[in-house]
Amino acid sequence: MKILILHGPNLNLLGRREPEVYGYETQNELIDFIKKSFSNIEFSFFQSNHEGIIIDKIHECIDIIDAIIINPGAFAHYSYAIRDAISILDIPIIEVHLSDIKKRENFRQKLVLSEVCDFTIFGKGKKGYVDAVQKIKELI
Ligand code: DQA
Repeated sequence: MKILILHGPNLNLLGRREPEVYGYETQNELIDFIKKSFSNIEFSFFQSNHEGIIIDKIHECIDIIDAIIINPGAFAHYSYAIRDAISILDIPIIEVHLSDIKKRENFRQKLVLSEVCDFTIFGKGKKGYVDAVQKIKELI
């Protein structure tokens, strides 16, 4: 099974970025942790700070990738263009947020991708990604 882990803006600075909110682990450490948790899954990973590049990457998944785990960063709260791109695909797509967005600022309460994703997981830190893979296994 091929799963793409797709990260949006500012997640490249995990470990340095508000560590009290997002943790002290870097993005590479997070990806290593996920890969080590599931030795039988072929993970690929992509991060971009740019909306159009994320959309291009979602399009590239067509007929190639079995499922996507997306942490869209702040795009989760307003990108209808990413929402439309997700709607094109007919594979499991799980949205993950490291932090507990429900307990944070008002602007983070609106989730425009959730309706087109199969599940949204938040507030579990890196374990959220492990749960996302479990969900994908249930769905496929
Ligand atoms: C985030 C939550 C978003 O609100 C924020 O903009 C991020 C990270 C999370 O993983 O908790 O960039 O997606």
